[in-house]
Amino acid sequence: MRVTLFGASGLLGQELVHELRGDELRGNELSGDELGAAQLTALSSKDADLRDRARVRDVIRDSRPDWILLAAAYTDVDGCESNRDLAFAVNCEGAANVAQAARETGSRLVFLSTDYVFDGTKASPYQTTDPRNPTSVYGESKARAEERLLEILPDVCIARTSWLFGHGGKCFPATILKLAATRPEISVVNDQRGSPTFTRDLAAALVRLCRASARGILHVTNSGNCTWFEFATEIVRASGIQTKVKPVTTAEFPRPARRPAYSVLSPDSLHAHNIQMPDWQDALRRYLASAHSAASVVG
Ligand SMILES: NC(=O)c1ccc[n+]([C@@H]2O[C@H](COP(=O)([O-])OP(=O)(O)OC[C@H]3O[C@@H](n4cnc5c(N)ncnc54)[C@H](OP(=O)(O)O)[C@@H]3O)[C@@H](O)[C@H]2O)c1
Repeated sequence: MRVTLFGASGLLGQELVHELRGDELRGNELSGDELGAAQLTALSSKDADLRDRARVRDVIRDSRPDWILLAAAYTDVDGCESNRDLAFAVNCEGAANVAQAARETGSRLVFLSTDYVFDGTKASPYQTTDPRNPTSVYGESKARAEERLLEILPDVCIARTSWLFGHGGKCFPATILKLAATRPEISVVNDQRGSPTFTRDLAAALVRLCRASARGILHVTNSGNCTWFEFATEIVRASGIQTKVKPVTTAEFPRPARRPAYSVLSPDSLHAHNIQMPDWQDALRRYLASAHSAASVVG
């Protein structure tokens, strides 16, 4: 399988590189190591800016991929509120540039999308068929991208995910651990509910979806759900730290972008491909264990 990956330097992209290269035993039941490594072209924004249509077309023509994985995006959710043009240029027009090039080369495309395409007013898991109604510029740019890509490439695979954490960049557990190391108490919002997702599990599931020739909209997150407060409490508990975690409301901690209060994504579309994701607590344990072993190698 020949794969071209946009966003290879990002949180998810780095795990996709490991997964596609078939690196070491991943300690992950989703990885199919019997499937062998892919021929990978891994790109950061310096190699190809999504906004540069000619460059995007050239790298795709040169690499002639069976699959393109589009994990590149402008992901600063609050930054998008004050940089609307940039958000749409990268997340929507940039994605459309990739889809046009994919159509020209006959490549399949997986586009990473987000739970923020929903408004969060439901009280039960969002189905792939539920209407989009984003409440932030970031969510709008992704929702519009989904519509554009489905027009350009009807067999596109759109993988919506949520609350990513992993190695190699900023993420919620790393931030909580840093804060908890120096403070006796931290305040975390308890009125936003979603599914934390380990980039390692997501990368493995995405590669399986490519191998299964998946198309259409899919929801790909770790199983189970929690609030950010419950997530933080579990991070602190599992790490054996004494810091107290205090629940607060979103209203007490206003941010530029409005987040959905409830954005749990139904796993039904994934189950249809026989993929069962580990629960988020299990994923968190593996993340913390691998963070410790990486630290002890360095130390
Ligand atoms: N993080 C989450 O919680 C979350 C939740 C739901 C969905 N998602 C989606 O999942 C995907 C991966 O997210 P992530 O957290 O791994 O992202 P990330 O860590 O912020 O990485 C973003 C990647 O996109 C690249 N990039 C940014 N602007 C670009 C441009 N103009 N042209 C080309 N490449 C560009 C970056 O390259 P450089 O390093 O060169 O800048 C980097 O490789 C994204 O599509 C995101 O929207 C993320």
